[in-house]
Amino acid sequence: MKVFGSLRVPGDKSISHRALIFGALGTGESRVTRILESADVHSTAGVLRSLGAAIPPLSEDFVVRGLGRSSLRQPTEHLDCGNSGTTTRLMAGVVAASKLQATFVGDGSLSKRPMRRVARPLEAMGATFELSAHGGLPMTITGGSLHDIEWKSEVASAQIKSAILLAALVSGVRAQVTEPVRSRDHTERMLLARGVALAVNENTVTIDADSPFETSDTDVPGDPSSAAFFAGLAALGSSGELRLEGVCVNETRIGFLERIKRMGARISYENRRMEGGESVADVVVAPGKLHATTVVEADVPAMVDELPLLACLATRAEGETLITGANELRVKESDRIAAVVSNLRAIGATAEELTDGMRIVGSDRPLSGKVITHGDHRLAMAFGVLGAASGNSIEMDDRECVSVSYPGFWDDLAKVCG
Ligand code: S3P
Repeated sequence: MKVFGSLRVPGDKSISHRALIFGALGTGESRVTRILESADVHSTAGVLRSLGAAIPPLSEDFVVRGLGRSSLRQPTEHLDCGNSGTTTRLMAGVVAASKLQATFVGDGSLSKRPMRRVARPLEAMGATFELSAHGGLPMTITGGSLHDIEWKSEVASAQIKSAILLAALVSGVRAQVTEPVRSRDHTERMLLARGVALAVNENTVTIDADSPFETSDTDVPGDPSSAAFFAGLAALGSSGELRLEGVCVNETRIGFLERIKRMGARISYENRRMEGGESVADVVVAPGKLHATTVVEADVPAMVDELPLLACLATRAEGETLITGANELRVKESDRIAAVVSNLRAIGATAEELTDGMRIVGSDRPLSGKVITHGDHRLAMAFGVLGAASGNSIEMDDRECVSVSYPGFWDDLAKVCG
């Protein structure tokens, strides 16, 4: 397979959710450009609208007229978060600090995902939660005025951290959150850009939200987690080069790119610049002979969403790849350890499930068969990339689930390889 051309991947999903939330909570107008128009981001827009925020239809370029931190109203319907964990957990922080009661619901996959991780700190701040028997959705939150908190999170999770920071922002209180490893820091950057008093010290973030909260425009950079699929594709190519334009290269997000570079892919970052408080670059990727790698717990947050793809690439790398310390994969849109390993085996690769990760043995044997996506967008795209590599032939049960984060994925894939 030859790779060629250039591509601008859609806007970053994490920043897109946050642009809508901060826009709704600000006082006045904020302009949002190049937002990701995908199912997950539509879920956040829908939840905010149900809470009375004036979020216009999403498009390339629109303005949110925010009504302030305490402007959200009692909804008349359940808050439907679809498939989106980010919508649920970030909005849990906002609702917990608002004087209203709301019930969060979602699809089958989201309903299984753990919500106690956000309920516990938000209850400690003074909100009331009712969760389903297994600790997930439906989840009813009764919000109100919250108090200061110091929270040590057991898992590195930007969603937990952001839920606490958003609750502090809406209540105007102080919060300190410490994580075992630093997770993506878009919330922190966007709060700082809006004038909020916030300090970061290694893995600890402290917000003092008894401070002004200004509005700010957001020009959403390209999503590194979407770019990763095309970087992986280029790494597996037989020849050529692919240019991925305007990708967010925030260091908390580029674990995958840096890792495949170490494995042998040829990667360079060109035209580095700052856009909207984020470091952005054009990422140029060319094929290389790949070698196996070892991923440990400290590596996971910066590549958490890319591990299914890394596992797919590992089947084409020389040697044995070991991924450990990745328990979080079990509670994503699917159990990504079980699902990736069973799919790899179904197409003839050598892979083994570990409690907290997986072991994959690389080979150059062609891979073929049918994979089950479990409706998980990142599984569909990871196996789509592996299927595009020369010699492989991979079918899947559900290609449409990519609409959660990258509706145009299959068209873009067809454009850049031949
Ligand atoms: C996200 C954080 C990560 C990531 C998810 C988006 C965010 O989840 O997997 O796709 O925007 O904060 P966790 O916080 O559960 O690790």
